[in-house]
Amino acid sequence: MADYLWFEGIPLPSIEVEKELIEETRDKFVIRDEDTVILSYPKSGTNWVIEMVCLIQSKGDPNWIQSVPIWDRSPWIESQKGYQKLINKEGPRLISSHLPFHLFPKSFFSSKAKVIYIIRNPRDVLVSGYFFWSKTKFARNPESMTTYFEWFLKGNVVYGSWFEHTCAWLSMREKDNFLLLNYEDMKQDTKSIIKKICDFLGKKLEPDELDMVLKYSSFQAMKENNMSNYSLVPEDMVTQNWALLRKGMSGDWKNHFTVAQAEAFDKVFQEKMASFPPGLFPWE
Ligand code: A3P
Repeated sequence: MADYLWFEGIPLPSIEVEKELIEETRDKFVIRDEDTVILSYPKSGTNWVIEMVCLIQSKGDPNWIQSVPIWDRSPWIESQKGYQKLINKEGPRLISSHLPFHLFPKSFFSSKAKVIYIIRNPRDVLVSGYFFWSKTKFARNPESMTTYFEWFLKGNVVYGSWFEHTCAWLSMREKDNFLLLNYEDMKQDTKSIIKKICDFLGKKLEPDELDMVLKYSSFQAMKENNMSNYSLVPEDMVTQNWALLRKGMSGDWKNHFTVAQAEAFDKVFQEKMASFPPGLFPWE
């Protein structure tokens, strides 16, 4: 059974990630001013944003997203293959990462590289994560939602505590090179969010190009696109009924939490996130 790779107290996936690589990423990887980084705590809608950004780059033309795997279009900096791809790529790069603030490349903090940070109701992140980690072999498998719920609140899940990850990255939220998105708004008004990303990246799309971005980044289109739906993940790494694009909805936690769990979660959320202004988290 797969376990975590522990790095300085943070549980990481045990596949494709190594301690030396995390150290090298933090200390030596050079982020360039022209790079765009798509960052999140896992299960926040990261791949959806990657798809939108790729489609914005291709002005809505689906050729790139339908011919190149999503992890090659925007490689994961903390994975062996992704790291190699990134250091060998010239010019502006799309970079994906789930790394917590303190493990992210130091070079970023003095660069002008743009970061898109995605947040999602952590209750839905928990549920999505439970189905993801219990049906894949990238890290420790929870045997039940109850177990995973406890691990999540303690931060004993992949990439550590949601609360710490989010608090640390949100300290950047007033910076010009930082765009904060949330899954709930992405669901509610996808087109406005695509326009917001375009403005942030300095891209201008014609209305029909924008419509194509919307069309090809939809849940259904992504679910059917083998380059984006993770069906290229080796079969022995996942169970049969596993899917990255599972439900794609806001509020699924209500179908899974007990009343006691919902109350316990509220309490922890209020304690840990008290310093943030009301309205920052649309789900609260
Ligand atoms: P669910 O498990 O709740 O369905 P990540 O990419 O960060 O791993 O996040 C995965 C979550 O984003 C999954 O949530 C997945 O269904 C959802 N997602 C991915 N693409 C989406 C899309 N185009 N529209 C809506 N949700 C999407």
